[in-house]
Amino acid sequence: MTEKIAVVTGGNKGIGYAIVKGLCERYDGTVYLTARDIARGEAALSINTFKDHLKKTHTGIDILVNNAAIAFKHDATDPFSLLQFVEVCNTLFPLIKQNGRVVNIKCWKPLM
Ligand SMILES: NC(=O)c1ccc[n+]([C@@H]2O[C@H](COP(=O)([O-])OP(=O)(O)OC[C@H]3O[C@@H](n4cnc5c(N)ncnc54)[C@H](OP(=O)(O)O)[C@@H]3O)[C@@H](O)[C@H]2O)c1
Repeated sequence: MTEKIAVVTGGNKGIGYAIVKGLCERYDGTVYLTARDIARGEAALSINTFKDHLKKTHTGIDILVNNAAIAFKHDATDPFSLLQFVEVCNTLFPLIKQNGRVVNIKCWKPLM
């Protein structure tokens, strides 16, 4: 049997991440997500690992508090981006139970 391998550079966000996700869903082989920053690469993968853990361990989510990546100060260097916020929502929303709640922490004034 011939092993099939796909490698995506810059796979931690943006188009690269979307391609990794698409390949993981459809590609009949091993997919490597590569990133120049290990922490950013791991962060991109960790939400799916967390989802798998929740699915295996619990019956769903009753309350999801969206607190991360809602607003940044102008000099923030965090790698977490709006795209990742949307990714977290897309990943975890299917696990929210009927009558479950989503709490979005809001920025009360624009940050410069
Ligand atoms: N989005 C568009 O509309 C569009 C249109 C035409 C062409 N493109 C091209 O398509 C590619 C992906 O676009 P995108 O919007 O998904 O970009 P992106 O969200 O900025 O993601 C770029 C990815 O490449 C990595 N990267 C950037 N410079 C690097 C370097 N010097 N060495 C190693 N890794 C590097 C980034 O790593 P870090 O996270 O560590 O920075 C990130 O993982 C880019 O090359 C862009 O120029 C995009």
